[in-house]
Amino acid sequence: MAQQIYRRVVIGVSGASGIRLTRQFLLTLRDLPHVETHLVISKGARLVVREEHEEMGIQEEAPGTEDLVRQLEMCADHVHSIDDLGAGPASGSWKHDGMIVCPCSMSSLATIAHGCGTNLLHRAADVTLKECRPLVLVVRETPLNLIHVENMRLLMQAGATIMPFMPAFYARPKTIEDMLRHFCGRLLDQLGIESGLAHRWRDNM
Ligand SMILES: Cc1cc2nc3c(=O)[nH]c(=O)nc-3n(C[C@H](O)[C@H](O)[C@H](O)COP(=O)(O)O)c2cc1C
Repeated sequence: MAQQIYRRVVIGVSGASGIRLTRQFLLTLRDLPHVETHLVISKGARLVVREEHEEMGIQEEAPGTEDLVRQLEMCADHVHSIDDLGAGPASGSWKHDGMIVCPCSMSSLATIAHGCGTNLLHRAADVTLKECRPLVLVVRETPLNLIHVENMRLLMQAGATIMPFMPAFYARPKTIEDMLRHFCGRLLDQLGIESGLAHRWRDNM
């Protein structure tokens, strides 16, 4: 087997719907021993966790919101407070291989697009762009207004990748988990990390 290159990845979680995807993504990363993860969860995301944790069907494992947040945090190697502007990811001299914001709210999208963030998630994204490292934003809103689209355009021009969660039916998913896993594989493709989760179209031809 080819030797895996050691990678350091920053994961931002903002307050958009989709914590179930975030959970799958963090579980995927936890199982990749050559990837070191640094997690930042926004205050908005904590609210969404509270609203979505029952829908996730894991309330037996995580009876309270804080338990589920803790579950997410336990998947990461390092957890940074959203208010800790002195943490490593706030500085360009702290090296990493890319940042993924999953999910990315329209509020965080706008803040990152205009460079006016005041928390660690926004600062880390800003730094990632200025250092010309990969920044992937898993945006979630529908329908979109022109302000959302313009902010995405600005970020793409600045070097970010906009990657809304769009289920791939060609992968013939049977369950929601199948869809989530395939998407997580495609997300990691953006950082050049092979997880073995993405269905590869015509790979056997
Ligand atoms: C249950 C719930 C679901 C939400 N879903 C979305 C969403 O899908 N997309 C979005 O842009 N904002 C959504 N919001 C609103 C954001 O949480 C809100 O704009 C917040 O200020 C985002 O802050 P953050 O980006 O710092 O986390 C949702 C809020 C709640 C409470």
